[in-house]
Order: sequence, then C-alpha cells, then structure tokens
Amino acid sequence: MFKKLIIVTIFISIFSFKELYANSVLVTGANRGLGLELTKQYLNDGWDVIATSRTPNDDIELFNLKNKYSSLRIEKLDVTDHGNIKNLVKILSGVPIDIIINNAGILGDPSKQQLGNLDFNNANNIFQTNTFAPLMIAEAFIDNIKLGNLKKIINISSIVGSIELTTGNIYFYRASKTALNMLMKNLSLHLKNQGIIIGLIHPGVVDTDMTARFNIKKVPVNESVKGIREVIKNYTMKESGSFFDYKGNSLPW
Ligand SMILES: NC(=O)c1ccc[n+]([C@@H]2O[C@H](COP(=O)([O-])OP(=O)(O)OC[C@H]3O[C@@H](n4cnc5c(N)ncnc54)[C@H](OP(=O)(O)O)[C@@H]3O)[C@@H](O)[C@H]2O)c1
Repeated sequence: MFKKLIIVTIFISIFSFKELYANSVLVTGANRGLGLELTKQYLNDGWDVIATSRTPNDDIELFNLKNKYSSLRIEKLDVTDHGNIKNLVKILSGVPIDIIINNAGILGDPSKQQLGNLDFNNANNIFQTNTFAPLMIAEAFIDNIKLGNLKKIINISSIVGSIELTTGNIYFYRASKTALNMLMKNLSLHLKNQGIIIGLIHPGVVDTDMTARFNIKKVPVNESVKGIREVIKNYTMKESGSFFDYKGNSLPW
C-alpha cells in the first residue's frame, strides 16, 4: 500500500512538473522582422524567450516587450562575432533551451551579386552571417539544447537556396542558403542518435525590411511566423534535416 502511494506521488509530481515547465526558445536577430515577431508570438503563448540582437541597448520594441513579459530575456549577440558567442555561452551555462532559431540573416546588396559586378567582400559577409554563424551557434549551444525537452535547432533558410528552383541572380545570398541547407542536413545526420532535431524553413516572401526594395506580393510577417511555428512544432526526428516552407510543404534541394 505504502509502495503504491509513493509511486502515485512520484507520478503526480512528474506530471505537475511537466505542466508547470515553460518551453524556452532562443531567437537570433530578434530585434526586427521575423525574429521580433517570433519573439512576440512565443511570449504571447507563455514561452520563455531569449531574444538576441547585436544592438540590445537600442531595441525599443524588445524593451517594451520586456516591460510586459518577465519571461523575456534580452542578450547581446552578433552572430558573426566569436567573442559574443563565447560570452553568451558563459552567461547561459546550464540553462536548458528547447529550441534555437537561427533567424539572423542578411540579403546583402543585390547589385553586387550579379555577373559583371560581383563583390567578394560582400560575399564573405553574407556567408559568415547566413551560413557559418548558424552552425557556429548550433555547436556553441549544443549543451543547452541537450538540457532542453524539445531539442530542436531550426534555421530560417530560403527557397532561393533551392538549386532545383533557382531563377538566377543574387548569387551570394542564394548560395549562402544552399550551403546552410547542406551544413544543417549534415548536422542532422550527426545528431540523430542524440535526439536533436534540425529544421530548415523557408518563411515565404515576407513583408520585412529585407524585402522592402522589392515590389512583389508579400506574406504578412504575423502569418509567416504563425506558419513557421506550426512547422517547428511538427518537426519530429523523422523530418530532421528536411526542408519545408512555412505552410509545411516539402521543398526540393
Ligand atoms: N523576408 C523574407 O522574405 C525572407 C525570405 C526568405 C528567408 N528570409 C530569412 O529570414 C531571416 C530573417 O529575415 P527578415 O526578413 O526578418 O530580415 P530583416 O527584417 O532584415 O531582419 C534581419 C535580422 O537579422 C539581424 N542580423 C543581421 N546580421 C546579424 C548579425 N551579424 N548578428 C545578429 N543579428 C543580425 C538583423 O539585426 P540588425 O537590426 O542589427 O541588422 C535583424 O534583426 C533571414 O535569415 C532571411 O534570410 C527572409
């Protein structure tokens, strides 16, 4: 009888702990665009959010959110700065993170990514930010992910990185996302037996600063992020390393 009581008590404690446990997400480039909207929506759903940005002292919108949500933590992170990454690893030592979203990215100047005017300094910056930084961050915060329950590393990629679907131009930005896809596919194979899920998501052509110069039809940022979050939720180990759009459609490499 006593043994039964102990088992029931343990079961109830585990259940209550799970109910009380707030999921946590770390977002890079959280001060505007998709990153800010991801931050807002996760906070609104009761998540703990670590919003990172390279200019945390100037991020009025994040400060305003901080006044409303004690579950928001704002941290400095220029994703291309090794010192910044090391510092944040120290600050977050022992903190479980359920999901990391590698969102920070740059398009670069499209006019410098065309044959006849290719600027390789520009290319370097694009690859550092869009391709290498996400892998560096995945590697740096792997212990935090192992401590989390959901164990997902999600990357905001782009359909323009699809070789099969390419229509030309913006050479470097496209290639930076193609290479990101390859790195993350590799990582997914490496981490499969550790229960860590890797995601690659195209957010749609979204109405953010990045697309401001293009006069094309755009998806509202809140709609894109709603979709992205649903896709993130649906990633299981079976889909790890696969490439989807924000509606959950599979995309060709
Ligand atoms: N918008 C689209 O249609 C679209 C389509 C496909 C993929 N994407 C991808 O979606 C992601 C978010 O883009 P977005 O549309 O939200 O663009 P955005 O409005 O231009 O925002 C980009 C974000 O990335 C941050 N960032 C850039 N370089 C950084 C660095 N070195 N360290 C830290 N943060 C950095 C920016 O911070 P600062 O304010 O400091 O510059 C900003 O917060 C990007 O990876 C982009 O490639 C966007």
